[in-house]
Amino acid sequence: MSENDMPEWTPISGLQIAVDGPSGSGKGTIASLVAEAVGLPVLDTGLLYRFIGYSAMQNNIETDNEAAILAMLDGCLQTMQWQPGGIVVDGENINDRLRKEDVAAAASRVAAMPEVRKKLLHVQRDIAEHGCVMDGRDIGTVVLPDAQAKFFLTASLHERARRRWAQLQRMGAEVSLDATLYEIRERDTQDAERAHSPLKQARDAVCIDSTTLRIDEVVDRMLAIMERRQLIRQS
Ligand code: DC
Repeated sequence: MSENDMPEWTPISGLQIAVDGPSGSGKGTIASLVAEAVGLPVLDTGLLYRFIGYSAMQNNIETDNEAAILAMLDGCLQTMQWQPGGIVVDGENINDRLRKEDVAAAASRVAAMPEVRKKLLHVQRDIAEHGCVMDGRDIGTVVLPDAQAKFFLTASLHERARRRWAQLQRMGAEVSLDATLYEIRERDTQDAERAHSPLKQARDAVCIDSTTLRIDEVVDRMLAIMERRQLIRQS
């Protein structure tokens, strides 16, 4: 879609669409495509946790040193801006740096800290205020419990590892499929077993298993569900 094109669908005013799921479930790509189709901004909330993990690494703070992470938190959040394209620091979009695997591991550790989650809760709700598509782990359960549309995307562990590995290859990273599978499994365990806001499907979320579906099939399914519920209508 070019900038002058109308989105294909018109959402009801203030529509919030929550998209949760584990690593490699395709939620980032799918959330972006849904956002484009309905003309809403999209926030990949993983980037916020990645930004905290990245800032800790830049400041030589160990990611198990909770006190030091918390002391850094306010200052580091002040240095960043969220713009529709991602996280911007000093005028530069740093998404690519945040998407590296070492940052993902740091993000998963800081994401287990309740104070970090509390601070980011406000950041996320401010961004969602006028409607958005938000993807993460706890959007439908904690961040936007009143979101009118909630989806939980998943896929088999092997398929998720294969997708993440292909993505890393495209970014030029030299990493094996086995190592990627191991990392994803570790992260799944950490994200699902943490005490605060673990990865969990909201009771009112629609679960879509994309193991054997193409991306456009998942997107079409989500749009059809929202049309049926009169949350969007054809423009
Ligand atoms: O989706 P991702 O891989 O970019 O997320 C990075 C880490 O942040 C991941 O380990 C889970 C965590 N996260 C979270 O706890 N809650 C969210 N809403 C989004 C991400």
